[in-house]
Amino acid sequence: MAATMVLTVLAVMASMVAAYDNGVALKPALGWNTWCTLSDCHNGDNNYFDRCNEWELREIAEAMLSNGMHDLGFQYINLDDCWAAQERDSNGNIQPDPSRFPSGMKAMADWLHEKGLKFGLYTSMGTETCNHGGRPLPIPGSFGHYAEDAKTFAEWGMDYVKVDWCGGELNDAQTQHTELSKALNATGRPIWLELCRGYSYDPIPDYVTEVAQSWRITGDHQDEWSNTKTVIEGFMIPSNQAGPNQWNYGDFLMTGGPGCNLNNSDHCPFSSDDEYRTSFSVWTISSSPLIVSTDIRNMTAVMKQCLLNKQAIAINQDHESTPGRLIGQAADANCIASDLRTGDCPIFGRKLSDGTYAAVLLNFADQGTRTVTLPFNWLGVASNQTMAVYDILEQKSLGNFTGSFTAKDLNPHQSIFLSLTAA
Ligand SMILES: *[C@@H]1O[C@H](CO)[C@@H](O)[C@H](O)[C@H]1NC(C)=O
Ligand SMILES: *[C@@H]1O[C@H](CO)[C@@H](O)[C@H](O)[C@H]1NC(C)=O
Ligand SMILES: *[C@@H]1O[C@H](CO)[C@@H](O)[C@H](O)[C@H]1NC(C)=O
Ligand SMILES: *[C@@H]1O[C@H](CO)[C@@H](O)[C@H](O)[C@H]1NC(C)=O
Ligand SMILES: *[C@@H]1O[C@H](CO)[C@@H](O)[C@H](O)[C@H]1NC(C)=O
Repeated sequence: MAATMVLTVLAVMASMVAAYDNGVALKPALGWNTWCTLSDCHNGDNNYFDRCNEWELREIAEAMLSNGMHDLGFQYINLDDCWAAQERDSNGNIQPDPSRFPSGMKAMADWLHEKGLKFGLYTSMGTETCNHGGRPLPIPGSFGHYAEDAKTFAEWGMDYVKVDWCGGELNDAQTQHTELSKALNATGRPIWLELCRGYSYDPIPDYVTEVAQSWRITGDHQDEWSNTKTVIEGFMIPSNQAGPNQWNYGDFLMTGGPGCNLNNSDHCPFSSDDEYRTSFSVWTISSSPLIVSTDIRNMTAVMKQCLLNKQAIAINQDHESTPGRLIGQAADANCIASDLRTGDCPIFGRKLSDGTYAAVLLNFADQGTRTVTLPFNWLGVASNQTMAVYDILEQKSLGNFTGSFTAKDLNPHQSIFLSLTAA
């Protein structure tokens, strides 16, 4: 019976291996990454995504500083698989592609730091990277060079390293991730380490909390609904606990659509605005790092609605409360729930450190509207308590309710992100 499928997880912080606290990850990272923005398709080349160069990076940084994102805490400017040269230098050091970063990485880092921003880059645990940033030949990964590359990254002034899982010599993730983590630690520069290994539906292995600050909970987030749905299901896995210094990451947000539509790639096509609002809301309530990969130089309305929403970002950053979890499947007559994770009407919820609550009510079905009811006792609120309910993304009060709140006629993949305060 659907009504009984309720998790009482809000107060549960499962026993966790001690987090690795190096001072940089008290709160989920907020930032931007090259992945779905700086492509040559602007120039009619529809074949590649993830290009980058120092000129566009400066424009992106200026945009983050002036468009309101920085004021809300966005600070990371991260490169994906687009920056490294195809050869190491004669001493075996990894180096930037000189046509893309002629001034070098240290100059770029210094420029960003002067402006109050942070700088991140990408490498792979194997001998080659995954995507090559649209370049035909392999790009070196860090295998065999973990210590040297960590030293190079620290000397350049890197604040964040995303490490992928491509290129051969991928033998034992725990051993290899630990080796890279220790090498980064030994540099003396505190660096955020993101592990990217596509842990789909597996429990996240315990060791990750001892070596990194964030880890992907699923495979790549590709910007189309069937994939977005698998990431949202990743956030539903009860064992994936998160908190200060240990954040579950849903991969890039592509909020607002990409700079261009790459028809040969399923990574960055268009989703609907409802789908962008839904992914943003679930990532946000779950305290995933929010790394947006769309073009923040020219924000669309839905980008502004989400990324500049002060209340939403504050919920994401509320490190003193347990990140949002799946708290149940709504029991409305039109909501079919075959099991807790695969129902039509999942609800995420969370109690915040100021004593208020947040919830995301979803229509997970592909066809037909759904009416979704949140019983307040799923949040731990007494059934006789009246709650003032507020729509966070529309920024409007929905009224006072006792016992439950019902969102009527949500469209397929639509959701509503609520704030609830005792009235
Ligand atoms: C290195 O690890 C120790 C122990 O976890 C931690 O306290 C310290 O902040 C780390 N230092 C850097 C530079 O990451
Ligand atoms: C992608 O394909 C769609 C139709 O399949 C077409 O309308 C659109 O123009 C294409 N976009 C590009 C950038 O080629
Ligand atoms: C910004 O985006 C809008 C809508 O996509 C487009 O019409 C406009 O030309 C863009 N402006 C710039 C400066 O890229
Ligand atoms: C709600 O119910 C509890 C008992 O379940 C009672 O103690 C409390 O006074 C009630 N509060 C209101 C506002 O009615
Ligand atoms: C909701 O309750 C609060 C506190 O009692 C009250 O100030 C507010 O006017 C109420 N709002 C509505 C829409 O009734």
